[in-house]
Order: sequence, then structure tokens, then C-alpha cells
Amino acid sequence: MIKILSVRFLDIGAGIPTRGNVHEVGHAVDPEARVVYVDNDPIVATHGRALLKGGGRTGVVEADMRAPETIVDSPITRGLIDFDRPLAVLFVSVLHFVDDDDADRVVAYFRERMAPGSYLVIAHGTQGRLSEQTLSETRRVYEKSSAALDDRAPERIAEFFDGFELVPPGLVDVADWRNDNDHIEHSSGGYVLGGVGRLL
Ligand SMILES: C[S@@+](CC[C@H](N)C(=O)[O-])C[C@H]1O[C@@H](n2cnc3c(N)ncnc32)[C@H](O)[C@@H]1O
Repeated sequence: MIKILSVRFLDIGAGIPTRGNVHEVGHAVDPEARVVYVDNDPIVATHGRALLKGGGRTGVVEADMRAPETIVDSPITRGLIDFDRPLAVLFVSVLHFVDDDDADRVVAYFRERMAPGSYLVIAHGTQGRLSEQTLSETRRVYEKSSAALDDRAPERIAEFFDGFELVPPGLVDVADWRNDNDHIEHSSGGYVLGGVGRLL
């Protein structure tokens, strides 16, 4: 009998895992799927732990992705994820909160540890069709928050997928990425791009 190995997800910059989150989507496909949520906000991590209590197939790691070794070396990650096997690493709406050097370094760190056949998932803010005035107001708002916003150009975001083969439809408006949900409007205005890459 062929045993199908369960899938693993490392969701970095996870936010609070509410309805329809990664573990729910993953478990709908594979009840044995393992999910590690990572966030540097202690309030998010505390809520996440409370919501996921009693899981066993999910874990929460409070860590700053700019110190990626604290994620990989965490006993929670080690207990749920085996880097010798393909996994999915998610950076959904988080890379735009760190500067170029950190973003490149963190993605490269995981790329070097991911087994071939692993997937990289990125959603990233960009300028899209927003006016210069809206953009500068948006940046000003983020400057007053815990992290500034770096709305990189699409070509720059695509560079994070170096070494990966983009899965169709490629790096597109996140609302259009295989959108077969009637309740999700097509096109976000192009200011959040999403893509999935398979490690070669
Ligand atoms: C916009 S939310 C995205 C949440 C979720 N991924 C989603 O798409 O719904 C960004 C999250 O990233 C976290 N975050 C920001 N900078 C981070 C860092 N350096 N390391 C880890 N998490 C970070 C924030 O605390 C926040 O929960």
C-alpha cells in the first residue's frame, strides 16, 4: 500500500488564525496536514495559541522572521515540520514590512532549507493602480505603525521566486489567482500581487 505523506505548511507573518485559515483549508484536503503559524506580535501569538488549543497538528511560534533560525530551530517547528521533505512556506502580506536586505535574506534562508518540490507562496503589496497621493498617504499611515510599508515593484517581487518555477497563472493580482469563488471579487486593483513557486 502506498502511504501518501501529509503536507506541511509554515505560515510566516500568519496573523490570528481565524475562519478559513491555513489549517482549515489544509485539513479539508488532508486531515493529517501540519501547520506552523509564525508571528512576531505577542498578542497575535497568544490569540493563535488559544484558538488552536488541543490541535496537535498545528503550532504557533512567536518569532521575528528576520531571525529565521529561531523559526527553524523552534521545538514547535521541529515537532511538526521535517525540512527533508517538501513543504509550503507562506509569506502572505508580510514581506512588504521588511527592508530589501532582510526580505532577500529571509527568503534565501528558507529556499536553502526547503527540499526540491517545496512551494513558496507570496502575497505582496505593490503600487498597482493606486495614485501617487493614495500611495504616500498609505505609506505615512504605516510609518506611524509598528512596520513601514515597502510596496515593491512587480519585477522586484518576482525576484523572490528565483530558483522556483512559478505555478500558473504566475504572479498576478491576488484576487485573480485561480479565483473560482463567486463571493470573491475579481481584481483587487492590482495592489496586492500573489504567486506560488515550486522549488526546482
Ligand atoms: C497584514 S498581516 C497578514 C496576516 C495573514 N498572513 C493574512 O494574510 O491574513 C501581517 C502579519 O505579519 C506579522 N509580522 C510583521 N512583521 C513580521 C516579522 N518581522 N516577523 C514575523 N511576523 C511579522 C504581523 O504581526 C501581522 O500579524
